[in-house]
Amino acid sequence: MWASVTGVTGVSVPEELGEPFAFGREADVYALADGTVLRRYRDGGDTGPEALVMRHVGDHGFPVPQVHAAGGADLVLERLDGPTMATVLLAGSMLMEDGAAILADLLTRLHSLPSISGDEQSVLHLDLHPENVVITAGGPVVIDWRNARDGEPDLDTAFTALILAQVATGAIEHPIHERVGDMLDLFLELAPGDPLRKLDEAVAMRSRQSTMSADEVGLLPVAAARVRGVR
Ligand SMILES: Nc1ncnc2c1ncn2[C@@H]1O[C@H](COP(=O)(O)OP(=O)(O)O)[C@@H](O)[C@H]1O
Ligand SMILES: [Mg+2]
Repeated sequence: MWASVTGVTGVSVPEELGEPFAFGREADVYALADGTVLRRYRDGGDTGPEALVMRHVGDHGFPVPQVHAAGGADLVLERLDGPTMATVLLAGSMLMEDGAAILADLLTRLHSLPSISGDEQSVLHLDLHPENVVITAGGPVVIDWRNARDGEPDLDTAFTALILAQVATGAIEHPIHERVGDMLDLFLELAPGDPLRKLDEAVAMRSRQSTMSADEVGLLPVAAARVRGVR
């Protein structure tokens, strides 16, 4: 049985989805019978803006899953085949140095694209870290564009550095914790722009994100200090 969840946009998903095959902090991801995936915001909300950004960067040749449909909290996407960068780093099949170089390269490429509105310097992802990069046979592909928007590229670079530093300092618990400091140091060398110029703004924005626990927010200054070179 298939039901249209939004008549307007024509997103059709089965009534029985089964268990999600993957999930993050914000969304559950289900495999659909036609080979696509359904990414559903757990707290409801509107996937429209995320779909718009994904189509924009995809149209400019940036590696992103193709968007098949968007409506309400649902996004139907091309199913990527491959592990996340976090998985391969943890398994030791990707070097931390290579992970840092890939993140820096992805940001450099993203920041060379025009903004969506045409009024800003570029388009930003604002959550680019190893859990949001899928390593496919065709190369790294960036997922999870919910926070993406137009803005100044240095803010995006600051976000990636801050997130890596949160893990490196233990401000966010992650099994990759012990080795990610090396990755952060190299990322800071290779990253486009100035990772420090917008760091305070990144900390302020991140402290307001609903996906962050109170403990994680409390430790943000420790992570920010690590980005600034304090250990
Ligand atoms: N298009 C896709 N194809 C295959 N797997 C995906 C796709 N999008 C997301 N996933 C899987 O779902 C997980 C969570 O997706 P993500 O978009 O990062 O959600 P969250 O916002 O909750 O972090 C990813 O780590 C990945 O394993
Ligand atoms: Mg994610």
